Amino acid sequence: MAETVEIVEVGPRDGLQNEARAIPVSEKVALVDCLSRAGFRRIECASFVSPKWVPQMAGSAQVLAGITRAPGVLYTALTPNLRGLEDALVAGADEVAVFGAASEGFSRANINASIDESLARFRPVVETARTAGLGVRGYVSCVTHCPYDGPVAPAAVARVAAELFDMGCTEISLGETLGRAQPEEVGAMLDAVLHEIPVEHVAGHFHDTGGRALANVERALSHGLRIFDASVGGLGGCPYAPGAAGNVATGALAAHLAGLGHETGLDMEVLAEAGALAREMRS
Ligand code: HMG
Ligand code: MG
Repeated sequence: MAETVEIVEVGPRDGLQNEARAIPVSEKVALVDCLSRAGFRRIECASFVSPKWVPQMAGSAQVLAGITRAPGVLYTALTPNLRGLEDALVAGADEVAVFGAASEGFSRANINASIDESLARFRPVVETARTAGLGVRGYVSCVTHCPYDGPVAPAAVARVAAELFDMGCTEISLGETLGRAQPEEVGAMLDAVLHEIPVEHVAGHFHDTGGRALANVERALSHGLRIFDASVGGLGGCPYAPGAAGNVATGALAAHLAGLGHETGLDMEVLAEAGALAREMRS
């Protein structure tokens, strides 16, 4: 039976945050506007982080102000702290995301905090966002491997995921940040996480450095996950995960899911158009 799978488009954020060229706001707006016609329910297009840490995301408020909002689409933003959340609310983000890690090395490198410090920092962000009526994603990075600490234990991922869920995150997105995982490693990690969190609140976020993102999606599907992040044209990577490639490409993921008999509701022609725009933007 055809089952619906949601693809959350993260290209305008995860994709573009890593580009070396300063991309004008108008180009980002054009990409988001094209994606808005493709049938996504959620497009992550902004990140209210320190511009000293990630200069490419500095124009996020202007991006949210410049796009033409399509009915039924939520435009989402990363918010690492209360300051970021306040800016996101003013800019009109429809859903926000805090982002932690399962490894101490990445947590320190990416957000300058230990795991426990980051969880304490996220708690008021999540509470304030929920009070304002917004859904909150809780990202967990480095769910199998960390560029600084090496292999990551499934129990460490489950611990951070459960804390984020318990503090009020509405969805946990599991970040395979390095794109190096084998499906068996993803399976072991999911066994631990799904012991703590109902599967309908869990998303898979696979980078594709090793070319196994689609195989890892399939493994996650077999565990019952039905929400996956992807990046148009396969753009991206994280500035604090050296050598990591972009997310699984949205078009490839949508085609793969269709081949497995899943509905994504996406328009492949519009996706191809957005993919061409994304490739032109690449530095
Ligand atoms: P810090 O240096 O510890 O924070 O950074 P601070 O409070 O000392 O502030 C430092 C400066 O940043 C100050 O400015 C603050 O005002 C400013 P100064 O006084 O030096 O001029 N600042 C801000 N500016 C704008 N917006 C804000 C904000 N907060 C402070 N919200 C901080 C801590 C978290 C801010 C920093 O480490 C940071 O911004 N990190 C973001 C890193 C990032 O965006 N990484 C990529 C996203 S995560 C990812 O890609 C992984 C994911 O895709 C999943 C996966 O693949 O695994 C989600
Ligand atoms: Mg990512």
